[in-house]
Parts: sequence; C-alpha cells; structure tokens
Amino acid sequence: MKICVLPGDGIGPEIMAQALRVLRALDLGFEYEEALVGGSAFEATGTPLPDATLKLAQEADAILLGAVGGPQWDTLPRDQRPERGLLGIRKALGLFANLRPAILYPELANASTLKAEIVAGLDILIVRELTGDIYFGQPRGIEMRDTPFGKERVGYNTMVYSESEIRRIVKVAFEAAQKRNKRLCSVDKMNVLEATQLWRDVVIEVARDYPDVELSHMLVDNAAMQLVRNPKQFDVMVTGNMFGDILSDEASMLTGSIGMLPSASLDANNKGMYEPSHGSAPDIAGQDKANPLATILSAAMMLRYTFAREEAAQRIESAVKKVLAQGYRTGDIFEPGTKLVGTRAMGDAVLAAL
Ligand code: IPM
Ligand code: MG
Repeated sequence: MKICVLPGDGIGPEIMAQALRVLRALDLGFEYEEALVGGSAFEATGTPLPDATLKLAQEADAILLGAVGGPQWDTLPRDQRPERGLLGIRKALGLFANLRPAILYPELANASTLKAEIVAGLDILIVRELTGDIYFGQPRGIEMRDTPFGKERVGYNTMVYSESEIRRIVKVAFEAAQKRNKRLCSVDKMNVLEATQLWRDVVIEVARDYPDVELSHMLVDNAAMQLVRNPKQFDVMVTGNMFGDILSDEASMLTGSIGMLPSASLDANNKGMYEPSHGSAPDIAGQDKANPLATILSAAMMLRYTFAREEAAQRIESAVKKVLAQGYRTGDIFEPGTKLVGTRAMGDAVLAAL
C-alpha cells in the first residue's frame, strides 16, 4: 500500500512529520512517497499542483495532506494560488464526500468558547459535498458590464448541483447516520436558491431508502445559529460545498480548537485524502508551536476508511485521548494547570502513549 504524503505550506511539514512518526510506529507495511503541493510547489515548479504530484496522488492508495496557503501567495492569479492545488486534487480524484467530525474531548471542555454544559459530550459529523456547488460552477469571472451604477467590474460565480451529485453525497450521509445515532439534518437555503430547492427535493427522495434514519431540514442561517445555541441537537449534518465550508469551521470551534479536528475526503470507492480541518497557520510556522493532533487523527481516519484497519485507527485515537488525559497541551488548547508542549513533544507524547 502506498501513501502519497503532501506536507504543503506553513505548519504543514511540522504536523505531517509527527503524523508520519505515529504511522511508522504502527509498522503497517505502508510505503510513503512525498510530493509538493500548494505554495511550496508553486515556488519550486511554477504551479500549485505539478503533474508529478497529481500522478502520485492518483496512483497512491491514500493521500495524507498537511495544509496549503500563506500570505506571500495572496497576490497570485487565481489558478496559481496554493488553494488550487487542494481543489485540483479534490476535483481530479472525484473526492466528493468530505467527512468532518466535531468531537469534544472531555479534557478540553473548558477550551471551548461556549459554556461547558452546552458542549459537554458533543459528537457531531458534518458531511460536506466537496466537488460541486459554487466552488466549481461555471460561468465564473470578473468582467466589465453595464450595471445600474454604470459600466463597471462585475464578479460572478454560479451555484450548480446536478441531482446525481446530490444523491451520492446524501447517501453517504444517511449511511453515516445509520452507523451513529440515526439522525440526519440536511442544510440548505431553499427559501432563496433553486439549486438548494433541488437539494431538498433529492434528500426527500433518498430518505425513502433509509426509513430508520430520522430526517430533518434546516435553512443554513438557522443552522449556523442552532450550532451555537444547542449543538448537541445534531448527530449528522449534510450540506453543500459552500455551506459545509462555513458550518464545519463553526462546528470545529465548539470543540475548543480547530487544531484537534481531522477530516476525510472520499471518492466512490473509499479512496481518500486525509487532512486536518485547519489551515497552514503561517503566523506560527516553523516555530514548533502547531498542534499535530488533527493530522495524527486524520491518519487514524485513513486507517479506518481507506484501509479498514479499525483496530489500528482506534489505537491512535486512544493514544491521543491518553495524552490529553495526561495534561499535554499545545498553545491552542493550553489552560493553566496543564503542560504546555510544542509540536514535536506532542508527537513524542503520542508515541509514548502508543
Ligand atoms: C477547507 C478550506 C478550503 C476550502 C480552502 C483552503 C480552499 O477552507 O478545506 O475547508 O474552502 O474548501
Ligand atoms: Mg474551510
């Protein structure tokens, strides 16, 4: 089995190094091959997604990614921006199903900005569609047009969903709900947007095949509010690419730190790319401050979903719980009375717990 390793930019290489130490310690017989993506790929090759990287990602059995992006690339044309590397892999490999769990570890109840009783025991799964929606809809652009204000620049993107695209992600969500608490909330904006009226119609059709799952619908603005008001009402949430991007960041913060949350992006055959939900944190890059746990937990998701190595996945997750119980904290989850450690020392602690 071959893993394509894409450390990326910012804190990416530091957190990836710790995840690889953990995987190697499990001695699973994997082969690891590294490639460039994002801003670092642009610097070396002039493109954020070199052909060699895409080829390796296509050939590998799974992909582990750190993070991409940084302010030094903010002025580049859109197709050369680091984010294009990530979006390009998602699209080219058909990784349409993005699973973003938001779990509150009991030890971190005080790290949340919400009151402990609102978030204690929180365990929700956001299923985000990842290869459609306004992210990829055509036409898109910025051009001169006549407007009521005169001739001026107009920027536009298009929200597009086909029913097949909706159906396949909604099935993934129903199946995930069946394995959990059997409740699914579909999030849309059908009171305004036709594309999401279709979304709701298709969800209702697919629901007939899952009578054991309790289905609800919520408008996205209300969902954003409910996530803060009473997040524990949710089990699995399913939504499109744009709303899922926003709601998953919001949900992650309920748990205290986005630095704790892994994610999986899967194709129809459970091949996947695994990455932390957070970004490249350029402000702390290279300082041994970043929290590697989201990347380590992403490696656990890889073992579970692509390789069906449930036991190995749980070993990693138990090791992470143990280091939290032992009081080890990186800066993002630190509170007085706990032990502040850096990226590498957190990796050491996870290895020791393993
Ligand atoms: C995410 C990120 C990406 C997205 C960016 C980096 C393109 O925010 O994975 O949530 O918008 O999908
Ligand atoms: Mg995002």
